[in-house]
Amino acid sequence: MLVLGIESSCDECSAAVVENGRRILSNIVATQVDIHRPYSGVVPEIASRTHTEWILPVVTKALTEAGVDEHDIEGVAVTTRPGLIGSLLVGLSFGKACAYALGLPFVGVDHILAHLYAPQLEFEIEYPFLGLLVSGGHTIICVARSIDDIDILGTTIDDACGEAFDKIAKFYDLGYPGGVAIDRLSKSGDPNAFDFPQPSLHKGDHRYDVSYSGLKTAVANQLEQFLKPGYERSAENIAASFQRSAIEMLVSRLERAIEDTGLTRVVAGGGVVANSYLRSRLMELKESGGLEMYFPSLKLCTDNGAMIAGLGYHLLERGERGQLSLTASARVARFRKSYP
Ligand code: KG4
Ligand code: ZN
Repeated sequence: MLVLGIESSCDECSAAVVENGRRILSNIVATQVDIHRPYSGVVPEIASRTHTEWILPVVTKALTEAGVDEHDIEGVAVTTRPGLIGSLLVGLSFGKACAYALGLPFVGVDHILAHLYAPQLEFEIEYPFLGLLVSGGHTIICVARSIDDIDILGTTIDDACGEAFDKIAKFYDLGYPGGVAIDRLSKSGDPNAFDFPQPSLHKGDHRYDVSYSGLKTAVANQLEQFLKPGYERSAENIAASFQRSAIEMLVSRLERAIEDTGLTRVVAGGGVVANSYLRSRLMELKESGGLEMYFPSLKLCTDNGAMIAGLGYHLLERGERGQLSLTASARVARFRKSYP
């Protein structure tokens, strides 16, 4: 089954054609990075307006690159939540219109579940697994039992991990988008130049939760206090030390979850999984813990239509159908929260 996937939840306008939930025939990602750069952040109104201009050429290109035309498509899958509401509505309205005009089945897809599905476009992965989703809007550790059945173990109690990268980069004018800029600068910085504090969350209640607001404040306002003797306050050192603290916080929670659940299969997804330090730490965990570790190639970490088409295929296969009355939501779905 050939599924057209459409993703427009934030500032990437993306469409993909995927066969049977696995084989990517095309995955076009048109990024609005240059448009939002002057504001050092995504401006929702500009994002949704740009999606309205780009969505048709992006979908057309996805079909052309896949070597198919619209009549070969057998189903349409579109991100419905969470995200910027105006941006989501553009993709959703376009997807519904395509499905209606072509008489195709159509389904709405949760963006968070799609990030967790993304590695399956490249690897054969069995359930259950421990999922780590780290993006600009979300930081989640969960047990995934199937494509759409997850138990949340931990989340961020304030900012998302990617959001902290973006805010620190903005504060120090390190470059836009922030996560990529910090990753790049960190390569020539010393991760031990600063010893930024880790949050002291009450362990019983927050064993798998993370918090970035304290780290963000420490990095932004009190540099002198955390600079180790003999080091310079260079942008590279700040970036590398922040990155180490932010990622080690995640890794420590993940290690706890692995230990407590006994799960040895770990799957990571979301924009921050493009981070080179996190990728190398995940590989170290894999080696030292004898784990099965999966994370996608860079293009499938950040927002893309292929993950929507991939997950959408499975939903369509089991008979799910979105009605034309289906609407988008900015909010995260109510996933089950449980502790092992
Ligand atoms: O998954 P994504 O494309 O969009 C959301 O669903 O939020 O993730 C975007 C986030 C941004 O916060 C961005 O700064 C971060 O992923 N990001 C990175 C890197 N590449 C993207 N963070 C750290 N290092 C990177 N290399
Ligand atoms: Zn995303």
